[in-house]
Amino acid sequence: MSAVVDPDKLKLYSFQLFTKLEGAVTAGMIHLGDQLGLYRVMREAGRPLSTTELAAATDTIERWVREWAFNQAAARMIESHGDGTFSLSPEAAIVLADQEHPAFGMGMFHRLPQTMKALEHVRESFRTGVGHDYDSHGPEGAVGIERSFEPWNRAFLVPVVLPALDGVVAKLVAGAKVADVGCGAGSAVLLMASTFPESTFTGYDISQFALDRARTKLDSSGLRNASFHDPRNQGLPGDGSLDVVCTFDCIHDMAHPQEVIEAIRASLKPDGTWLLVDIKALDTFEENMRKNPMASLMYGISVLSCMSSALSEPDGLGLGTLGLSENRAREMSAAAGFTRFTKLDVDHSVNSFYEVRP
Ligand SMILES: C[S@@+](CC[C@H](N)C(=O)[O-])C[C@H]1O[C@@H](n2cnc3c(N)ncnc32)[C@H](O)[C@@H]1O
Repeated sequence: MSAVVDPDKLKLYSFQLFTKLEGAVTAGMIHLGDQLGLYRVMREAGRPLSTTELAAATDTIERWVREWAFNQAAARMIESHGDGTFSLSPEAAIVLADQEHPAFGMGMFHRLPQTMKALEHVRESFRTGVGHDYDSHGPEGAVGIERSFEPWNRAFLVPVVLPALDGVVAKLVAGAKVADVGCGAGSAVLLMASTFPESTFTGYDISQFALDRARTKLDSSGLRNASFHDPRNQGLPGDGSLDVVCTFDCIHDMAHPQEVIEAIRASLKPDGTWLLVDIKALDTFEENMRKNPMASLMYGISVLSCMSSALSEPDGLGLGTLGLSENRAREMSAAAGFTRFTKLDVDHSVNSFYEVRP
């Protein structure tokens, strides 16, 4: 028996399908707006600009800028004034062009070409089961991750997140030993190292591109209380000598997160603290689909990046972007020997924050 096709639903479905392609193509245009400095110039101008002015200020060709501006205005990313000029709303100026603002949103767009290029190699992963680590996204992948997380951290890590942890700021002021596991390009390490000069900070990551970037930034910072390592060469100390361990948005990316959590437990002093920051996730796909308006984005990024990383070793656990719910994190922490697990009252659009203690 053949299914009855409703012609109106057929049109609606096709429309919905092509809105996804519209989003993907416009996302590519947003990448260009960021990389070519078009948004930055529009923000700095603070008034509507013609495409001739925009092209001159970015050293680009007007005809190309005009077509780009038409896409951006049609997508309601920038404002068209009906006289050939375009501008940014105050909100767009922040999200698109203010690197210092916690709501700056260009990080994921920075790494869009690398993320989408993963389509070429994950096709094979669907057959082999084996994914690809963060270095498969090249050096710009590490920069994109850095630009995704650094603005929020710069605004909130020291004044809001660290004070939410019991006794941690006092230890950091006095002189503590701290590790940041999955540190990426080292932004949080360098920020904390400059804020707390009496403490020492060690960042660990398996991405060589991220480590190279972290070490370059460390060299130019002049800081002497930070260092970066690949944990496969030099792992966390197993002697209970650390006061604080941080993990920012990375446990769900790890092939063997339980082993890493056990290593964190072994590295901490009995009164130490693990600051666990990870994606807000619920226990089941159904809950995530119902309650998370970004669920489809998250599951897609998982295939292209997070779960792929978490399956980049043959026996990887493969948690993926929405794989570390609070309950799962509690269970894994308890299995590693942690006895205290508290969700922190920190407001973030995407992340949850936990204080986990021996
Ligand atoms: C989404 S990024 C977050 C980076 C950084 N924490 C930040 O907030 O900018 C996840 C990082 O986890 C790293 N990673 C994955 N598995 C790891 C492991 N087993 N040990 C250390 N780092 C790992 C990746 O290389 C990547 O740099």
